[in-house]
Amino acid sequence: MLPEEYEREYQSCRALIEARLQHYFCDGSGGRLAEAMRYSLLAGGKRIRPVMVLAFCRAAGGDIEKALPAACAVEMLHTYSLIHDDLPCMDNDALRRGKPTNHVVYGECMATLSGDALQAEAFNTLLQSELPDSAVVTMARTLAGAAGLGGICLGQALDMDGEGKALTLREITAVHNLKTASMLVASARMGVAAAGGSEAQLEAARRYALALGLAFQIRDDILDCTGKTDVLGKPAGSDAANNKTTFVTLYGVAECERLIREKTAEANSALRGHFANTDFLEALSINLEERKY
Ligand code: IPE
Ligand code: IPE
Ligand code: MG
Ligand code: MG
Ligand code: MG
Repeated sequence: MLPEEYEREYQSCRALIEARLQHYFCDGSGGRLAEAMRYSLLAGGKRIRPVMVLAFCRAAGGDIEKALPAACAVEMLHTYSLIHDDLPCMDNDALRRGKPTNHVVYGECMATLSGDALQAEAFNTLLQSELPDSAVVTMARTLAGAAGLGGICLGQALDMDGEGKALTLREITAVHNLKTASMLVASARMGVAAAGGSEAQLEAARRYALALGLAFQIRDDILDCTGKTDVLGKPAGSDAANNKTTFVTLYGVAECERLIREKTAEANSALRGHFANTDFLEALSINLEERKY
């Protein structure tokens, strides 16, 4: 796929997502809580996860309009995880998506609650999907599985417990898979489920996003060391400041670059033979491989 074709498709998915996200929590009923939720939700971000929902829905032959509530749900849940990740009790960061973090603007109490509410509203939004009940149940189960003990929360707990300790490769891989790859896997599988895709397609989506998810977090670890705060839109050097074990502290940048290439190739090979057209999904993983923020 030509770079300009990839960019056009990415931006067209992104525009649909941005437009739909604008509609949530805007009726004035939620006061400062709704304002805090919208502050982080609409602050930008790459929108990788919702784009992945739409891209897998399309690859599996579905109508992407019908997958938009699921795409927005994934972004709400992800945004909650970022708000809580930045809290003083966790990574204690003051910048996110190029803006002061939620707790810096609204205070810790409101930031905690806006994360809580975004997580609940993610499921509320997903349940409003105009899709067969069986697809909605599958998507809700998938999202819940990636949010709790099978995903973000356990990953973040192990990440915090690991501060100041030397984690092994096995341990840091588990942290990255849980805190990051699980949501990418859920996004990919929700897209397939929205299209009523097959078990084989769900499994291909899982394998693709698991490999891509590990590559994505290894890149995040590299950027934390080598990136610049103004380009990242979040503070460079946060991992070192918090004494975290990362892939970079274990292996160094050059070996991490090799691992990212290996995982990206693994992701793309998982797709082949399962979807009519994988051009965009393959270009997506390759673009993420080289991302600068
Ligand atoms: C940041 O995710 C948290 C990680 C899992 C590394 P993104 O890099 O997707 O952040 P946004 O959504 O673009 O801000
Ligand atoms: C957090 O990983 C992943 C989440 C589940 C939010 P990081 O703590 O490395 O994410 P950043 O670097 O702050 O975005
Ligand atoms: Mg963190
Ligand atoms: Mg962080
Ligand atoms: Mg990071």
